[in-house]
Parts: sequence; C-alpha cells; structure tokens
Amino acid sequence: MLHFTDIADIRNYLNERQLEGKSVGLVPTMGALHDGHYSLVKAAVKENDIAIASIFINPVQFDQKEDFENYPKTMSSDFSGLEKMGTHIVFTPSLEEIYPSTLNLNLSFGSMEKGMEGKFREGHFNGVGIIVGKLLNIIRPNTAYFGQKDLQQFSIITCLVEDLSYDVELKCMPTVRSENGLALSSRNQRLSKKGLDEAALIYKSLNLAHDLLRKSYSIAEVEHQIHNLYEKSNLDLEYFAVVDAVSLVPLTTLAQKTALCVAAHVEGVRLIDNMIISE
Ligand code: PAF
Repeated sequence: MLHFTDIADIRNYLNERQLEGKSVGLVPTMGALHDGHYSLVKAAVKENDIAIASIFINPVQFDQKEDFENYPKTMSSDFSGLEKMGTHIVFTPSLEEIYPSTLNLNLSFGSMEKGMEGKFREGHFNGVGIIVGKLLNIIRPNTAYFGQKDLQQFSIITCLVEDLSYDVELKCMPTVRSENGLALSSRNQRLSKKGLDEAALIYKSLNLAHDLLRKSYSIAEVEHQIHNLYEKSNLDLEYFAVVDAVSLVPLTTLAQKTALCVAAHVEGVRLIDNMIISE
C-alpha cells in the first residue's frame, strides 16, 4: 500500500496512472475506520484498478470544537485494516496541506440543508462540500463511495457534483449494522457497553416507524409515537424526520421513496441513522 501526504506527489503519481487508462475509486474518510468504511473500501477495490482511501479529520465541518477534538484517532489500526482490504493508496494530508491559507469560500445548499443535519449543525455541509470538492479535484476519481448512514451528506455531495460538473460517479452504499441493529459509526467508540445497548433503540425506532406507516398510520401520528418512545428512554432525540429520500423535503404523505431519519444523543454522543422505504 502506498502512502501519500502531499497533494503534488499523489497528483503526479495518479496523473501517470490515469494516462495509462487506470480507473480510480476514492473512499473519503475521517479515519477511526470500522466495517462500514471497509464495505466501501471493498467495493472500491473490487470495481477499480486503483482504490484510494483518504483520512482527514476536517475541522471545517465540525460545529462544536469539542466534537472535533474528541473525534477518535486510530491511525495505525486504520492503516493495517486498509492494507488487509487490498487498498492501493492511503492519502493522509496534513491540515496545512489542505488549508494552506484562510478559507474564504462558503458553500450553501439552499433547501437541501434547511432540515436535519443542516439545521442542527450549522456550517456542517459547507465544510463537507469544501473537503469533498477538494478531494475530488486532487484525486479525480472515476467513482467515489459514501455510506447511506449519512444520507443528507450524500444528497449534498450529489448536488455539489451536479452543479459543478465533476466528472465522477457517486455510489451510496448500504449502512452496516452491529448485531443489535446499531449503525456502525466512528462515534460508537465513545459509548460504554450500556450506551451501545441503549443506542439500539435508534434502529428499533426506525423499524417501528416503518411498521406503523405500513399499517397506514399518518406521518403525524408516527412522529408522535416516535417522540413518545424516546421520551421513555435514556436517549435524547434531536429530530425524527420523514422526508423525500431524494429532495429531503419533509413529507405529510408518503413519497415514492421516503426516508425516515433520526438524530439522537446517547451518553452525550450524537448518533444518526435512517431507513429508506418505498411506497
Ligand atoms: O462522512 C465522512 O466521514 C465525512 O463527512 C467525509 C465525507 C469524509 C468528509 O470529511
């Protein structure tokens, strides 16, 4: 596995490979890799001549300094995991390499970031858009892989790619879950055993909402029941949203593809999850 830290070096290397006609797959990450990330890496290795994972904890996408500082860092196990998966290149630029001078650009995604993560994490998608835009320019991958767990992020990145005409295919890969249904997340590392057990309620709440909708309960009634469920638990519900899975607009009746989205705090750790249901 090759390791690059400098933009100029990875560009030089990839320019030559791309001239030889090699296809490139990119998995952008912030490290603390788990099986969710590795499922993206697996697809990138399978589908491309060169699979690249980037590891960069992007300060611009954190609205809370504390969250940025507490973000888990597991570089040596990340490297061995990536090596085992057959990753060809790992790219770990420094903060100065990515942001050599004060950032003046500010991205706004209009109605797509009005709700959910965009509402509760101010400036988050500006930061995501900037780092993903930079990585796509540096690596120029044929395909870039993201997880469905961050559904709104995927819609925002799709918007970035379409509006700025990036020549890349985006793939949204299914959420990987632990046995109790909890969506894998780097943040799970900050939970106690008890917290991990309690966090299973998030996936249960999505299944409950799905069941109720199947039984023709109205969206308003489902929202009410989900709020009640969280009120009786140790989890702190930030939002439960029923939105169009493509436009992310909140719904009052089901769309062709509806996304049920949750953010909740467990032991002070903010977790998100979602489920897409077809009419
Ligand atoms: O999903 C993530 O880990 C991050 O938001 C991403 C896409 C790597 C950008 O920093």
